[in-house]
Amino acid sequence: MAGIVLVGAQWGDEGKGKITDLLADDMDLVVRFQGGNNAGHTIIHGGRTLKLHLIPSGILYPHITPVIGNGVVIDPKVLLQEMDELEADGITTRRLLISCNAHLIMPYHRDLDGASERRLGGNEIGTTRRGIGPAYMDKASRLGIRVQDLTDVHILRKKLEAALVEKNDVLEKIYGLPTYTVDEIVDEYMEYAKRLQPHIADTSHLINRALRSDQWVFFEGAQGTLLDLDHGTYPFVTSSSPTAGGACTGAGVGPKAIDRVLGIAKAYITRVGSGPFPTELPSDPGSIGEHLTQKGGEFGTTTGRQRRCGWYDGVIIRYAVQVNGLTDLVITKLDVLSELDTIKVCVAYEYEGKRYNELPCHQTVFHHAKPIYEELPGWKCNIDHCRTFEELPKEARDYIAFLEDLAEVPVSIIAVGPDRDETIMRRWERRA
Ligand code: IMP
Repeated sequence: MAGIVLVGAQWGDEGKGKITDLLADDMDLVVRFQGGNNAGHTIIHGGRTLKLHLIPSGILYPHITPVIGNGVVIDPKVLLQEMDELEADGITTRRLLISCNAHLIMPYHRDLDGASERRLGGNEIGTTRRGIGPAYMDKASRLGIRVQDLTDVHILRKKLEAALVEKNDVLEKIYGLPTYTVDEIVDEYMEYAKRLQPHIADTSHLINRALRSDQWVFFEGAQGTLLDLDHGTYPFVTSSSPTAGGACTGAGVGPKAIDRVLGIAKAYITRVGSGPFPTELPSDPGSIGEHLTQKGGEFGTTTGRQRRCGWYDGVIIRYAVQVNGLTDLVITKLDVLSELDTIKVCVAYEYEGKRYNELPCHQTVFHHAKPIYEELPGWKCNIDHCRTFEELPKEARDYIAFLEDLAEVPVSIIAVGPDRDETIMRRWERRA
């Protein structure tokens, strides 16, 4: 095994930080391949809680090379802040490498993200307002500024001049916002450049070299399958490719480099921001939805927003298995369900009298889809101490077996608490 991808199988926030941190011990490289500081990966270890937005979750291990790949959009101010916080905590960021081809989030991207959301009003996407969408828009329209532009002030200036002609017009004439001068941005970004320079590298080359010499490379996804620009619940999606294919384009490796694709899902499901959500539960006081929110700590790592909670949706997971080519499922937060009498799992949808076993392609059907549930008995006891599958109560084992049958993919890792150790490694061979 050499190339392992971890992707969110739901709408993000499945616990990718914890699982990456857990598996990273066996890796040589941990690579972020898409998204930006819209992500929030929480790692809890030995009583310490780390919240990472841009830096790969393998950073805690000194033997690992953490890599930010070309598919990521980088806000250099946020990246440097995160590096400073880690250093202050005694965690070295010396080995961090940043792709010279990654695009930069500029101040006007943040302004435009907020302004376009305000303009959409009730139809807003509910973005994190970190400038992610506008940065990817500039990348696609070939107006983007890349990390390598920081290494040449003349190129940076020329590219900014071209970009600001359009951006200032939009900021001022469409949104009535203040504009930027080339000088002020060049001054700010050249300060960042001084500090980032030692970390800038041709990361695709480096990752391919590592794979050729049988090193283990872990591709850490951000967000989740249903937030994918192509395969998600468009337009309520992010602007990158959080599915497994994104690991290839966002890191610069071919598909044959990928040996195993882990899809991570909570034992229930959550979503932040707007958009359809068939198994969503009401969150009134005393409801199951509220119980999941509180017990699961379902508040965004990046924005603090309360996440919408619902029952596990097997249709979504089957879809995630398909579009990512999942080889394994990782189920997190099983402990959050421990107090429930019964647990529902969505096995199909119903719309206008028709049953849908697969995710419907048409948005109207998905928006109005009614979940068809199967109800399973709860286990009604604490499972945080379980470290093997056999130690789990029968009802919890049956629940996992049910999810496995539904997905037709083995559940290889199960998380029963937030700490690195609170995990059942069912089908995971440690590196020899
Ligand atoms: P953006 O990525 O900030 O453009 O936001 C687009 C959509 O993706 C919004 O619904 C966000 O709430 C959602 N989103 C972005 N990043 C994350 C994440 O890390 N976890 C969960 N949802 C996210």
